[in-house]
Amino acid sequence: MAGVVIVGNGMAGATVAATLRTKGYEGPIVLIGDEPHVPYQRPPLSKAQLLQDGDPQLVRPEAFWADKDIELVAGVRVEAIDRAAHEVRLADGRALAYEHLVLATGARNRELPGAESALGLRTVEDSRALRARLGAGRRLVVVGGGFIGLEVAAAAHTLGTDVTVVEALDRVMSRVVSPEMSDFFEGLHAEAGVKILTGRRVESIEEGAVTLDGDQRLEADVVVVGVGVVPNVELAAAAGLDVADGIVVDERLLTSDPAISAVGDCAHYPCAITGRSQRLESIQNATDHARAVATRIAGEGEPYAAVPWFWSDQLGRKLQIAGVAADGAESVLRGDPGDGGFSIFRFADGALVAVESVDAMADHLAARKLLSNGASTSVTPQQVADPSVSLKELAAAVA
Ligand code: APR
Repeated sequence: MAGVVIVGNGMAGATVAATLRTKGYEGPIVLIGDEPHVPYQRPPLSKAQLLQDGDPQLVRPEAFWADKDIELVAGVRVEAIDRAAHEVRLADGRALAYEHLVLATGARNRELPGAESALGLRTVEDSRALRARLGAGRRLVVVGGGFIGLEVAAAAHTLGTDVTVVEALDRVMSRVVSPEMSDFFEGLHAEAGVKILTGRRVESIEEGAVTLDGDQRLEADVVVVGVGVVPNVELAAAAGLDVADGIVVDERLLTSDPAISAVGDCAHYPCAITGRSQRLESIQNATDHARAVATRIAGEGEPYAAVPWFWSDQLGRKLQIAGVAADGAESVLRGDPGDGGFSIFRFADGALVAVESVDAMADHLAARKLLSNGASTSVTPQQVADPSVSLKELAAAVA
């Protein structure tokens, strides 16, 4: 019994399995992951789930997997891929044959010296452990002012915790948003009473404190580290597949072995929208990669061309980003940050490359259309800055 074997039971792996059945694939499907759970959603772990404890939100209801004849192997690591034999070897000694193998191995948190005295956030267990230590009278130091750091800071603050965020670069979320959007969120956190130190690097962590560059110590009852992730490429590399910053795949998401695909956070792929080879960490990327690969295995399939998008929830505001902008892109404001929703449109070489929206769902949806249907060079900064110009009509006009 060969069929499709999927390594990794996060959002990407689970979506490959589910979509294979939706697309009519009738062969055996085995979904293997080292987390001892049915597949669950990670995004709420740093947001709603920190605020209200509870069971994790599942990717599909628990009964779905057996109903669809998808075998779950949970709590077991895959130790090796034997490409010649078309088999994977599991930590429990089993060997499973595959006709096609999908690697959805994801990423792991980057660590700092002294990590054992701090908490990270990736699994449902991490989220519960952190929640148990937040609340009034506690001091939390968050290392890293990215999405994870700021979402944890916002939730912890809402729970009454005293929060300090330490960010090494000169602004928060610099990897994903414009300087103007960093400013807006730094202001939002400051106004709420979250302290953010930018341009300060945490060098090490001890029990009850962190040490910053220049030897300053910050005392803390809890330290959370959110300093980015490292893709899990070791299994692929040991099997001789091409790896760079991620497992290298082509525009059909195939690795250097045509019997093996890679999807989600671990995949380094050529993006049709940005024109660059990249790795992306987002739910959208995980699910769209997964659907593309499942559709291809089930017999249809086209080159991958989805528009990247991301979101974050902080202190009651929803940030949504469509597209990817590199440093130096021009920022154009639509709406008023002081008054409800607004967006920052980012242009590079005359083309729209990304749109960052705060509480402006209509702008975000129009942006995804504009970026996906090739309209990016037909819209101008003047048009998007003018609130009387309908983005929806602009997107429809060039569809
Ligand atoms: N001290 C302080 N800040 C640091 C240090 C350090 N020693 N090292 C790194 N940083 C900062 C970086 O400058 C960056 O701003 O930590 C931040 C990490 O942000 P991201 O790279 O965006 O990573 P993170 O927030 O951990 O998110 C990891 O999970 O939910 C997803 O979308 C999220 O894909 C992202 C992933």
